Amino acid sequence: MDRPFLSSVSLAGLERIASEIIPDDAYAYYMTGARDEITLRANVAAWSSWYLAPLLLTDTRELTMETTVLGASVGSPVMIAPMAAQTLAHPDGELATVRAASAGGHVVVLSMNASMPVEQLAAEPGAHVWLQLYLSSRDEVTANLVERARAAGAEALVVTVDAVVESPTTHRRPHGPIGLPSALSFPMNDGTPLDDGITWATIERFVAEAGLPVVLKGILRPDDARRAADLGCAGIVVSNHGGRQVDGTIATAEALADVADAVADRLEVYVDGGIRRGTDVLRALALGARAVLVGRPVLWGLAAAGQAGVARVLELLDSELHQDARQCGVTDLRAVPRDLVRLSTTIGGSLPPILPVRGR
Ligand SMILES: Cc1cc2nc3c(=O)[nH]c(=O)nc-3n(C[C@H](O)[C@H](O)[C@H](O)COP(=O)(O)O)c2cc1C
Repeated sequence: MDRPFLSSVSLAGLERIASEIIPDDAYAYYMTGARDEITLRANVAAWSSWYLAPLLLTDTRELTMETTVLGASVGSPVMIAPMAAQTLAHPDGELATVRAASAGGHVVVLSMNASMPVEQLAAEPGAHVWLQLYLSSRDEVTANLVERARAAGAEALVVTVDAVVESPTTHRRPHGPIGLPSALSFPMNDGTPLDDGITWATIERFVAEAGLPVVLKGILRPDDARRAADLGCAGIVVSNHGGRQVDGTIATAEALADVADAVADRLEVYVDGGIRRGTDVLRALALGARAVLVGRPVLWGLAAAGQAGVARVLELLDSELHQDARQCGVTDLRAVPRDLVRLSTTIGGSLPPILPVRGR
């Protein structure tokens, strides 16, 4: 893709390009959600139920994109969500994602099902890498991965707790499961079954032994958030796995405020799901998030143009956030006032149309 085009393409444009070039099965794997995809769609729509009430006539010329997460200074509150198997989108896969993110000081949460190992990716200059993992049914397998993350310089461990069993396949592929290429490699997952019986006691032990800050991903309720804080977690991600696990779960834009009100003074709260505009990031910060994680849009950029495509996605979100924050009188992204957003009880968000998936 030529540079002038890339510098003006929108996120919707990248989504369209990705839909045309990602192979059918990989596209279905990336874009679909569980069952009827209610949550997948609600995630996107729900952000637009929060309307902005801009604070005017404030001097915002000093506003920068910088913030801190887990005590580290980073270039933006936009982080990249863990997503498996990124070489399906582009041969450069996670390496391109990490390089694009590092250039702007964005944190990347690597999936334990990444196509490349944490040792290679965390060594990229300027990289801020957190490693996401599912806990294994064998403690020594988890311990080995944690040790690798620590030695490689990962800054945090993100334990995903909302995927205890295999997710249900989507109705959009009625004639069979999605088949991913057998040549895919997962250098951080040896195939040992995951622990499908994890409890708070498992998390308590894990936090005590991790040696790195632990973030729980998949929290949707204030009581679960409080337990995470009680056990010494450093952060939580308000997430429903991008609508890929339990269809019908609450949209993250709706869950965030209650969770943040319960615990944001005890640990850092992050959120993901359906964030497609800098305005959504601003809404999330106002509702109590320290930072956000962006999922599928990164895959669109990656598929369209590798590292440059991911960089374009991040640039779009950052520049929109900066513009909107300034227009709304925000002087510090770590202190976006809660009353900047109001829930619309009259208009609400409406579900966007589903994009067709090609093949079978
Ligand atoms: C293709 C794909 C693979 C994913 N793989 C993982 C994973 O390995 N671990 C995980 O915790 N979440 C995974 N997720 C969920 C994301 O981390 C994130 O919660 C979600 O995609 C955010 O929603 P968004 O895509 O609407 O931005 C995956 C999501 C997608 C789309």
